[in-house]
Amino acid sequence: MQMNLLKIFPTSTPTSRLGYGTTSLMAVQSGQERVQLLECAYDAGIRHYDTAPYYGYGEAEMVLGEFLRKKRDQVTVTTKFGIQPPAMVRNRLVNQLARKILGIAPSLRAVLSKKAQSLSKRGSFSAEAARTSLEQSLKSLGTDRIDLFLLHEPNLHDAGSSEILEFLEREVTRGTILAYGCGGEYSMIREIAQAGLPTSRWLQFEDHVLAPHVSEMRALGANCITYRTFLKALPVVSQWLDANPKIRSEWEVALGLNLSQDGVLAALLLGLSMQANNGGIVLFSSSRCDRIRHAARVADEEAVSREQVQRFANLIAPMIKDLSP
Ligand SMILES: NC(=O)c1ccc[n+]([C@@H]2O[C@H](COP(=O)([O-])OP(=O)(O)OC[C@H]3O[C@@H](n4cnc5c(N)ncnc54)[C@H](OP(=O)(O)O)[C@@H]3O)[C@@H](O)[C@H]2O)c1
Repeated sequence: MQMNLLKIFPTSTPTSRLGYGTTSLMAVQSGQERVQLLECAYDAGIRHYDTAPYYGYGEAEMVLGEFLRKKRDQVTVTTKFGIQPPAMVRNRLVNQLARKILGIAPSLRAVLSKKAQSLSKRGSFSAEAARTSLEQSLKSLGTDRIDLFLLHEPNLHDAGSSEILEFLEREVTRGTILAYGCGGEYSMIREIAQAGLPTSRWLQFEDHVLAPHVSEMRALGANCITYRTFLKALPVVSQWLDANPKIRSEWEVALGLNLSQDGVLAALLLGLSMQANNGGIVLFSSSRCDRIRHAARVADEEAVSREQVQRFANLIAPMIKDLSP
């Protein structure tokens, strides 16, 4: 499939507005299947991949590196620094054991993920830590350059640190990173953007119909990459429609769609996120190739039409107060 490609990062390869995030890779059992998921995204037309040393408890970058061996020049890659997985969960054997446990008891995912989060080393934003992280990421990814290098969950102080800025600028000059910015919780990202720091030219944050932040960030001059459509908006809107069957029927008539059909609501919400972050990248993640292909069809305006997404935007707008938890 051939998705429209845009020159989103000024000095990089043209890329797709839909990006695949590597957090779901951990849910997949074998290394081969994980690479196949990345290939599935590529075959569906996706050309941007988002990762971090922390994802997959340290393994996501290595799996992405395996995929990049043949595809590096055709795709763009974001990775981050500042949060390191604990040494214990960087161990492949420990990861294999965690995956086996999750295979038997998927309900333990939240418990294991919380445990790994609590053990992770947060906020290592010195220039030295950034250099070590960058070197390790380049090695794991098997590449000589990162298209976008983000401070992972920084605060205002981290994002404005002059030693970090000098380091980042030096790496841009060397060509190891092509652009840099910040990714994390919106309240922090907003402070960073409002301060007008050089690290706020590229911002990655949550944005969807229930948390519409992107226009504010764009007005402050940021290039935006957004996420959380499925994880946050989909369950809330879906449950709300279940509780309001009359409204669901009215919307179905207005849209000419069956909202109970698998994937239809997900497609409309992703369509909305892509419309909101017009010109930027919208990230999603899935451990299922059928869902990856479906998301790509949304980006291609094939799964739902532009008009249906616009009509859905008009229907849902007056309900946002009701929907917000
Ligand atoms: N600080 C940061 O910069 C930051 C923070 C968070 C995320 N991110 C990036 O953004 C990426 C996306 O993360 P996200 O938080 O936005 O996740 P998301 O894409 O909103 O949600 C992912 C979840 O949605 C499910 N899903 C996918 N397609 C679906 C569909 N059609 N219907 C129902 N469920 C579906 C997936 O489950 P299945 O596997 O079962 O399909 C997965 O559990 C991450 O991988 C990461 O790269 C960055």
